[in-house]
Amino acid sequence: MESIDALDVYIVKGFYPREQIIAFKRFAAQFAAAHPPAWHPCLDGVPDYHRINDEYKNSWVMARMHGFFFHAFNEHREIIDGFRDLLRLKNHLRGAPEDADYDALPSSGVITRLVSQHYPVGGGHLREHVDPHSPFALIQTIVQASTPGVDFQAGGLFLRASENDAAVELDELTDVGDLFILTPNVRHGIAAIDPGEPLDWTLDRGRWMILPIVIRSDYEMDPSTKPRQVT
Ligand SMILES: [Fe+2]
Repeated sequence: MESIDALDVYIVKGFYPREQIIAFKRFAAQFAAAHPPAWHPCLDGVPDYHRINDEYKNSWVMARMHGFFFHAFNEHREIIDGFRDLLRLKNHLRGAPEDADYDALPSSGVITRLVSQHYPVGGGHLREHVDPHSPFALIQTIVQASTPGVDFQAGGLFLRASENDAAVELDELTDVGDLFILTPNVRHGIAAIDPGEPLDWTLDRGRWMILPIVIRSDYEMDPSTKPRQVT
């Protein structure tokens, strides 16, 4: 934790088998084909859903991405189970039982969620931001779900140690199944994916990532617990 708090980034090669990540993306694409895009607040009864955010103005952080949201209390529990080791690691770091909040409902105040994001070729991006410190997110864990140089050529995850430092691009060091571990508290974002190409929302190209997270639900909305855009 000292090292991560000092802005070191770890890349764990091959943390997940390539086949698991490819199968997840196939599942997500089938889910998107079967359900229209929608958004739901994080309240009891929240379904699994997916949503296209194309520079939606009320976003905490401006983005062009296709987001997917799955919960252990809904019907695709086995999908989230596949990423449970990262949730256990985060619970361990906060001194909680390893399966704490795994099945928690929004009305308890906190939920576990498997988020996946697809950044399309032709400018998919997430503006530079910092995520708030919370006991549930002492580290952030980002699973690389695409192959840079194959699924896209330019852009991707970057961080910046401080306002006046150069951005450090990280994707070129990674492949499908690798894991990034870094502090939530550093400036980071997704640099535009192949911005010279026409925008293409198809899911078999572009930059995917998978993020198993524990977050506060929307029963007590507090902007200080939300990501903060810095550019
Ligand atoms: Fe973030």
